[in-house]
Amino acid sequence: MLDFITPICLEAGKILNKNFGQIQYIKDKSNAIDLCTNADIESEKFITESILNEYPDHSIVAEEGHEKLTNSDYRWVIDPLDGTTNYVHNLPIFSISIGLQYKETTVLGIVYNPAADKLFYALQNRGAFLNNTRISVSSSNTLSKSVLATGFPYTHDTYYNTSFSIFKDFYDKTQGLRRLGVASLDLCFVAMGRFDGFYEFNLKPWDICAGAIIAKESGAMCTDWNNASLPFSGCRILCSNSYIHQEMISVLNQEQYRLFYDLK
Ligand code: IPD
Ligand code: CA
Ligand code: CA
Repeated sequence: MLDFITPICLEAGKILNKNFGQIQYIKDKSNAIDLCTNADIESEKFITESILNEYPDHSIVAEEGHEKLTNSDYRWVIDPLDGTTNYVHNLPIFSISIGLQYKETTVLGIVYNPAADKLFYALQNRGAFLNNTRISVSSSNTLSKSVLATGFPYTHDTYYNTSFSIFKDFYDKTQGLRRLGVASLDLCFVAMGRFDGFYEFNLKPWDICAGAIIAKESGAMCTDWNNASLPFSGCRILCSNSYIHQEMISVLNQEQYRLFYDLK
């Protein structure tokens, strides 16, 4: 299945590169800053049609609406363009993210940054790779030696102010905190040791499914903010090189951040 999905992912990358810098339309989704372009739609149509051509009975969960739930044990989880805001602003930091689950366990993940021709992938228990070279996490063992990544949702609701308190907490304790705008690449950058850790809330399954298996297979830990197993929904995620995991949990699991557990 990795051999099947890799050329499809590369071809979707060509679609994104072709439209990069010359988007034909942009529409708002949940609000004026939640965007969708013709490239998101074209990429998703191509990926979902290609999968269903080969595996007509498989389930599909995809961001821009190509959802198909069947009785199959296989479920593809697809973000056809992760980092749409970057894409709209001509920042070449965006990806295609495709995960495959078997009986609700992720068994394959592929994340492609077509602007830099970087292809990350992992199979369960087989390690993680970037352009065919094995990757692994960093060795930083304290927050004081770490650079982290995070992101923020499009909705500025009850969690808005408190999310910046978490940002400040980590900003005080680390060498820096980055906001790339592409959750799947944040996870891959933990996998390859560029970032030592990543946390976010209010993500969706397609933002994290592929990146989380790539991170895990490179030696990272991916959990909920309190060390419980990672929710499929993406409502909270903590991913680290494993050495700083407890230190990150001691920040995220504080009493004043309990409100984030209302997210399901
Ligand atoms: C977004 C990115 C971003 C994250 C947002 C996501 P999109 O995905 O992954 O890093 O902070 O919450 O929605 O909308 O560009 O596919
Ligand atoms: Ca996304
Ligand atoms: Ca997207």
